[in-house]
Amino acid sequence: MPSTVAGIVDSLLNDHPLALDDPYHLYAQVREREPVFRTERGLWVLSRYDDISRALRHRGMSMLAQLKANPRYATSPTLQTQAASMLFFDDPAEHARQRRLVSQAFNNVTVRDLSVWVRQHVTRLLDACLDKPAFDFMNDFAEHIPVAVICKMLGVPDRDIETFRDWNFLITSATAVNVPDEKMAKIEEATRNLLAYLDDLLADRARHPADDLITKLIQARDQDDRLSREETTALAFLLLVAGSDTTSAFLGAALAALLREPEQFALLRERPDLMPNAIEELMRLHGPVHFGLIRTTTEPLTVGDGVEIGVDQPVWTLLSGGNRDPRRFPEPDTMDLTRKDTRHLGFGFGMHTCLGAALGRMEASVALGELLRRTASISAVEETVSWVDHGNLRTIAALPVEVTPA
Ligand code: HEM
Repeated sequence: MPSTVAGIVDSLLNDHPLALDDPYHLYAQVREREPVFRTERGLWVLSRYDDISRALRHRGMSMLAQLKANPRYATSPTLQTQAASMLFFDDPAEHARQRRLVSQAFNNVTVRDLSVWVRQHVTRLLDACLDKPAFDFMNDFAEHIPVAVICKMLGVPDRDIETFRDWNFLITSATAVNVPDEKMAKIEEATRNLLAYLDDLLADRARHPADDLITKLIQARDQDDRLSREETTALAFLLLVAGSDTTSAFLGAALAALLREPEQFALLRERPDLMPNAIEELMRLHGPVHFGLIRTTTEPLTVGDGVEIGVDQPVWTLLSGGNRDPRRFPEPDTMDLTRKDTRHLGFGFGMHTCLGAALGRMEASVALGELLRRTASISAVEETVSWVDHGNLRTIAALPVEVTPA
């Protein structure tokens, strides 16, 4: 591993750091040695909690400029056009408008109502997993939850869930460090297919409203304003690609971490009331989205000890570095499921804070809660796990576990 901060940052940007067993010591080195670092090519890298939260709260930050400049997307024009029209990449006024409209349709009530279905789905999956003395927590369980939940929420019939899983897997792999051209062609095809499917679904719900999110998005209104057909399709697309692998990656990281900390795991078993706090502490320590998307300043930003970042500068935030900043969290690398202050950056911060945070928390809490309730013991089959750098996401490839049913 490189020893200079420049070398470490270069490796974070261009290698596969998220596939490492412990990328956290790299973030710690950057944070402790050069908390406000500028690469030779002019990218500002922020790694302290306070600087990251300040930058993400700052109104003068655009994601769109970076997206347009990203050559990787040029080989998938549909994905590029699609991404550019998504809420995620919009600039402040347009983003606020769409977020207001979508929040009417996708809010805590939607999430609460959905929790009953999620529990049933998780129970069905666990019935099959617990039939055997061992199963793969990732491939047999965690990866089957989020896409199904989003399909259920949108109103996609069960028979199409697997197709959605395939499309989603391809599309989200577009953010990986290196994507060969032939793969980009498949990503382009998956994007077109998914969009065409969503467009048909939308046309159907416009004619036959149902009790689902697509219908609520069509009906959402803010005075005279409403979402256009393209915006509604783009939002449905975004929910799928932003909400699936993130949630399963978190579930895997959370269970793997608990298996390495038997005392904390036993505490959670004894005290299910700790689950909401445990989710936050696990997200702080092992949130799967390690970096914020690169933004470009549209207004100057002051960070660190008065460093001014001018206009038109790309800024990168090491969310997972901030989450273990000792200035913000005492004993930051220690797992303490009873920790009081867990205001982490795992769901981002500021205007682009995760729209699906409540849903992600609910899914994680139901999945881990049911797993604990239905088992007397769980242990890892292998001592080490292998991590896949799935784009910006740190994901466990497989997590075989042995279980004793309760
Ligand atoms: C537990 C798993 C999840 C994690 C760790 C996670 C993490 C994040 C992070 C870090 C961001 C901000 C990225 C940035 O600012 O650069 C974000 C944004 C977003 N997330 Fe999540 N997410 C999760 C689950 C979900 C779910 C379940 C959904 C929806 C179904 C979702 C939808 C979104 C959307 C739409 C945005 C963009 C919000 C905006 O730009 O206003 N996420 N997420």
